[in-house]
Amino acid sequence: MTVTPADLDSLMAARYSCRAFRPDPVPRPVIEAIVASARRVPSWCNAQPWQVTLTSGAETEALRGGLMAEAATGAHAPDLPFPESYPGVYRDRRRGCGWQLYEAVGVTKGDRDGSARQNARNFALFDAPHCAILSSPSALGPYGALDCGGFVTGFCLAAQAAGVATIPQAAVASFAPFLHRHFDIPEDRLILCAISFGYAQDDAPANRFRTPRAEVDEIVDWRG
Ligand SMILES: Cc1cc2nc3c(=O)[nH]c(=O)nc-3n(C[C@H](O)[C@H](O)[C@H](O)COP(=O)(O)O)c2cc1C
Repeated sequence: MTVTPADLDSLMAARYSCRAFRPDPVPRPVIEAIVASARRVPSWCNAQPWQVTLTSGAETEALRGGLMAEAATGAHAPDLPFPESYPGVYRDRRRGCGWQLYEAVGVTKGDRDGSARQNARNFALFDAPHCAILSSPSALGPYGALDCGGFVTGFCLAAQAAGVATIPQAAVASFAPFLHRHFDIPEDRLILCAISFGYAQDDAPANRFRTPRAEVDEIVDWRG
């Protein structure tokens, strides 16, 4: 089978971050095929720094419960420091997608309880039946994290091709000490993010918006 550029582009265009999942689990062979595709992404000197702690069933429920309890304490401690600021256009884009989400779920400006409630959905994993926690060896530093970013994209696209919805979540990684303890993830690995996944609840308000992208000419500084 030949994959055309249009096929690939429509796969990329169809993917979005899902924030409401149905409870039905994804069959193990489908998950294995998603990981098998995602691992084909490039990495510096083929180090393949990603390790994935992947939950199903009762393990997802235990993670969800633990995260919600951690979130209630508010003790954020990510292994990889979160950005200190989003200046200029990055702030605008960040606000833009935040407001798209709030508008979709009916949170109005100034409704702090509503936005906190929506934010807390992160720690319920948006009700997803599965969660993949991604880690990279600390020794590989930012380049390990860069390689893992490619893995996240590969995972999300492979999942989309299989009809499985995903959302990468830095919010989950903000409770890194809990995740290290809960899953016995060694301290010499950086927990980078999670990907919650499952089948989308298509009619849920949180899944009804799509984020825009900058034009090609805004991204590329053409030389020659
Ligand atoms: C590394 C990474 C971390 C993210 N963390 C979160 C998160 O914690 N919570 C959330 O709701 N969305 C999170 N997102 C999803 C982004 O908000 C989303 O990708 C962006 O707004 C573009 O929208 P789209 O994925 O629907 O195309 C994350 C995405 C990435 C790539």
